[in-house]
This record gives sequence, C-alpha cells and structure tokens, in this order.
Amino acid sequence: MMLKAIIFDLDGVITDTAHLHFLAWQRVAVQIGIHIDEEFNAGLKGISRMDSLARILRHGGKEKAYSQAECVQLAQTKNTLYVESLKGLTRDSLLPGIAQVLADIREANVRIGLASVSLNAPAILKALEIDRAFDFCADASRIQHSKPHPEIFLAACAGLDVTPEQAIGIEDAQAGVAAINAARMLSVGIGDDLFDAGLRLSSTDELTWHCLTDFWHAARGPNRHQ
Ligand code: G6P
Ligand code: MG
Repeated sequence: MMLKAIIFDLDGVITDTAHLHFLAWQRVAVQIGIHIDEEFNAGLKGISRMDSLARILRHGGKEKAYSQAECVQLAQTKNTLYVESLKGLTRDSLLPGIAQVLADIREANVRIGLASVSLNAPAILKALEIDRAFDFCADASRIQHSKPHPEIFLAACAGLDVTPEQAIGIEDAQAGVAAINAARMLSVGIGDDLFDAGLRLSSTDELTWHCLTDFWHAARGPNRHQ
C-alpha cells in the first residue's frame, strides 16, 4: 500500500507548547487550591480545554464546587495566561528536525495534515511560520471528542482525502497514540512511555523521512516513494 499522508499533533510534536499548557493550568489550579505536577499533566496532553479543567477539578476533589459559568471563566483565565505565554513563539521554536521532515515529506509529494484539539493551533502555526506547510488542518472547534477518541485524526484523513490506512499519525501523548491506533492509522510516538505506538522515538531529532518510510515499508509493504 502507498503512503499518502502524514498527520501531526501540534503541542509537544511540532513545538514545545505542551509545557506552556502545564504552566498556565498550574497557575489556575493554585488559585483554586489544587496542586498539579508534571506527572499529572502528562494525562492532560491531547485533552480539550474544558475536559482538562474537569480532570483538574476531579483531581482536587472539587468536581462539584463550580457552576458551568464559573468553569468557563476558569478555562478562559487559563487560556489568557496560555496565549500570553505564546508571544515569544517564532520559527526558532520548532522542535529539532521538524522543519526538515516537513520539507522532505512535501518533496516526496505525501500530504501533510494537522490533528490538534487546540483552538489556538492556527495562531501557533502562523507564529511558527509553518501554516502553509499543511495541506489540511482539522478544525478543533468542530470536534466533539478529545483524544483518545479517533475523531480528530479521522477528520484530518477526510480533509486530506485519504483513508486512515494510507496515513501515519505522529503524537507525543498516550491519548494521542490511542486515537491514532483507534483510527487504524500507523502510529509514531515521540517521548517516553508510549508503549502502544507502532514506532517509538525518543525525540523529534529522530523523526526523519527515512525512518518514516522504513516504518511504513515494514508495516504496510513496499512504498512507491522510496
Ligand atoms: C492540545 C494539548 C492539550 C490542550 C488542548 C486544547 O491537545 O495537548 O493540553 O488542553 O490542545 O488546547 P487549547 O489551546 O484549545 O486550550
Ligand atoms: Mg501533543
């Protein structure tokens, strides 16, 4: 089968905004007397803003403490802090190897998609000056389910006009890898503990066109692009 598309997660794969999400949530959590650490934060990766807040409140035993309007306000506070922290993003904020692999995928005529549930994704791609590298970005505002539900990856495949079996997905979160697998795409996991990923890499440095085609070839058979 021929490889037709590669679909990227954003936060933690293309740029290191996963940490900025954590810092913003941590400030909101402190305000409401809840302690969260990096370990807890790993479970928030790929989880939408409102679902992340629900998990934080549950973690602090405060799931019934706030009305819906107060929850919206807390989520807005987090987003204001988060957006403020994005101001320093430039092309230099791309993680190592990402600019090169995007260029190589384009050169090979394989389509490039984005599957991020972040409503800030379009602004981040612009700040990184890579918005034009993507053939299709799934629209987070139209997605009902956070990862590990496959919805956003399926939406990206549909927008790119490929079947999930013709695509590879790249993720840094357990929920994201589960979403890719549930969509029946091939999964690449970047970082530790992503045991369900078809291919595990320790950093984006290792994410090369060569390694992607080797992985594809091993899993799906000969690839015209090699
Ligand atoms: C990504 C991140 C999550 C974040 C979500 C929503 O999936 O991994 O940590 O909560 O996007 O982001 P947003 O920018 O819309 O609050
Ligand atoms: Mg991520």
